[in-house]
Amino acid sequence: MEAWTLLLPLLLAGAQARVCSVNKNVFEVQENTIPSGPLVDIYVPEGQQVTLGPTSTPFAFRIQGTQLFLNATPDYEENSMLLADLECRRGNMVVTQLRVFVTVLDVNDNPPVFPFEVKVKRVPEDTKVNTIVIPETELKAQDLDKNDILFYTLREVTPDASNFFSLVGVNRPALQLNQPLDFDRCQNMTFQLLVRDTRKEDEMPSHTATATLVLEVQPADLRPPWFLPCAYSDSHVCIQAQYLGAIPTGHTLPAPLILRPGPIYAVDGDRGINQRIIYSIMRGNEDSTFVIHADSGNLTMARSVPHPKTFLLVVKGEQEDRARYSVTQVTVQAWNASGSLPRFPESLYRGTVARGAAVGVAVKDAADPSQLLRVQAQDPEFPDLNSAITYQITNNSHFRMDGEVVLTAAPLTQAGAFYAEVEATNTVTSGTATTVVEIQVSEQQPTPTGAGGSTGEDQRFSAVEMAALGGVLGALLLLALIALVILVHKHYGHRLKCCSGKAQEPEPCGFDNKAFLPEEHEATWAPAPSPAPSPAPQEVPPAPQLPAPPAPPAPPAPPTPRAAGSPSPVPGPPAATRDEGGPAGVRSILTKERRPEGGYKAVWFGEGIGAEADVVILNAPASDADGPSDSGSDDERSDAGPGWGPPEDTARTDSTYI
Ligand SMILES: *[C@@H]1O[C@H](CO)[C@@H](O)[C@H](O)[C@H]1NC(C)=O
Ligand SMILES: *[C@@H]1O[C@H](CO)[C@@H](O)[C@H](O)[C@H]1NC(C)=O
Ligand SMILES: *[C@@H]1O[C@H](CO)[C@@H](O)[C@H](O)[C@H]1NC(C)=O
Ligand SMILES: *[C@@H]1O[C@H](CO)[C@@H](O)[C@H](O)[C@H]1NC(C)=O
Repeated sequence: MEAWTLLLPLLLAGAQARVCSVNKNVFEVQENTIPSGPLVDIYVPEGQQVTLGPTSTPFAFRIQGTQLFLNATPDYEENSMLLADLECRRGNMVVTQLRVFVTVLDVNDNPPVFPFEVKVKRVPEDTKVNTIVIPETELKAQDLDKNDILFYTLREVTPDASNFFSLVGVNRPALQLNQPLDFDRCQNMTFQLLVRDTRKEDEMPSHTATATLVLEVQPADLRPPWFLPCAYSDSHVCIQAQYLGAIPTGHTLPAPLILRPGPIYAVDGDRGINQRIIYSIMRGNEDSTFVIHADSGNLTMARSVPHPKTFLLVVKGEQEDRARYSVTQVTVQAWNASGSLPRFPESLYRGTVARGAAVGVAVKDAADPSQLLRVQAQDPEFPDLNSAITYQITNNSHFRMDGEVVLTAAPLTQAGAFYAEVEATNTVTSGTATTVVEIQVSEQQPTPTGAGGSTGEDQRFSAVEMAALGGVLGALLLLALIALVILVHKHYGHRLKCCSGKAQEPEPCGFDNKAFLPEEHEATWAPAPSPAPSPAPQEVPPAPQLPAPPAPPAPPAPPTPRAAGSPSPVPGPPAATRDEGGPAGVRSILTKERRPEGGYKAVWFGEGIGAEADVVILNAPASDADGPSDSGSDDERSDAGPGWGPPEDTARTDSTYI
């Protein structure tokens, strides 16, 4: 009995002493660090050995003597729980099995990664505001740190681009449209998308990544054709030109009528689409006196007009796909004229042009080089304009006439004064008049290419001028060809400038964007010295509400020259100025020419501004033309009431075409 009681503690001690043990079997370590010492000391009884059993996390541990060590740097993302399976053996027999658990703690050690470097997304111009343009799934970055919350920032690279697009939320990188797009103002917008795996920048550790987003605006058919030059325009609205011509009674002019401010000419308001425009006369063509060329807009006479009268032609310019159209008014006054000679009010005109100017550059007025020089003959029997008078230079091959404007016809390598005789011919009476133009070729250098702002525009002006061809009868095929080549070059040259400009020095996209020069210039153009534009052209349905005629002179009693020539002042555009010498002070000229494929190009010279806006009409691809020209658009049109027009237009511009 006593012996038994003595033995028990011994037995117990013996049992304890004969099994392995650890004093702690759950540990935590941060990933990426190895504890310098052992994880734990293992008690191993004599006669036994401890080894790592097969269920241990491979390569994670090692045993040295009776100490358990971490064998590799733990990585939370790889394995967040490590297990050491300790087997104590006596000989071959496993006596005990112990488990040691190591929890790996997560550390923010991985950067977020975008699945792309550059994402290019095409966005239709008519995308509705608040549309998600790129979904979150496409823009999300991945971060291997499972617990990281990612924070996104959108940074505009193209100035003002963030007016248009933003992220839905700081943790939700879906790209949303905030403001209507405008293809004419901004075609590409570039952003940097940033992601950070911490809320704050100064948190440690913190990782970031960036990617580039490029949004390419795709043009949509939002605007009707615009008759040029717009008296005012912004990217949605054009106060369109009206045209004025004057013809003698009793004659059928052999050539297209010379009109002010230039030939009848419309372009697709959506420059990016550039539908071809088809012209027709809708009303006012009494006795079928006039014929309009459907493709060129050239207005010719089919028969003579017996008595003085005024024609108020309503001319329609319609997109080739018939989706949209505009109308304008062309006033043609027929005057009793017995055939007097044209007459130049000046015997000498002075112009200037820079030495080295390319072919086709317009000569500027020496007295005011911001203006083009205009050499303009008068017919005493016509108050302002005789649509039958054409111009040419007779004795100087360095220059040629383009309507009333003088253009260089050869490279001017030498400075100095050139003299040229300009002859005005009345194509009806064959009466002529001559005057002399003195052109100073000055040393002033042409503005360098690539310069931004208005200087760049000036440079373009020169390029454009090359393309200018007569609105005159004598326009020549050869010149047309030259002009075409230059024009195409210019067209792409400009694109080039645009794109490269964006690469280095992106163009802003704001609504106050001053970089959209063509329209800026249009905006400053004075209105045409034409019929009072109170009922200006408007996108109206064919029959019901045409613009009311602008109080024309009553046919039987022709107005006095003054009254007819200078209609009542224009109330419309704020930019309009009439202080440059009456009706003759505000004039622009458009030249245009036919491209071999049947398209046209046109160049407007705004007189009040010394620079121009140009419009290049390249043929719309056939596919465009065939596109949506089916019943759909007809339905649309027939449904439309007097306010017919695209809903987008109404929504976006409110007032529109006046
Ligand atoms: C801008 O858009 C044009 C036409 O889509 C494209 O060719 C050009 O590469 C874009 N430019 C930039 C800088 O992304
Ligand atoms: C215009 O000429 C015609 C024919 O010569 C003549 O009958 C008419 O009275 C003239 N009208 C005016 C207003 O001079
Ligand atoms: C052209 O004719 C005008 C007028 O006769 C003259 O002043 C001018 O010198 C001539 N120019 C040339 C190049 O012959
Ligand atoms: C339109 O008229 C201009 C000059 O007035 C002429 O150069 C052009 O060839 C004409 N176009 C057509 C198609 O008749």
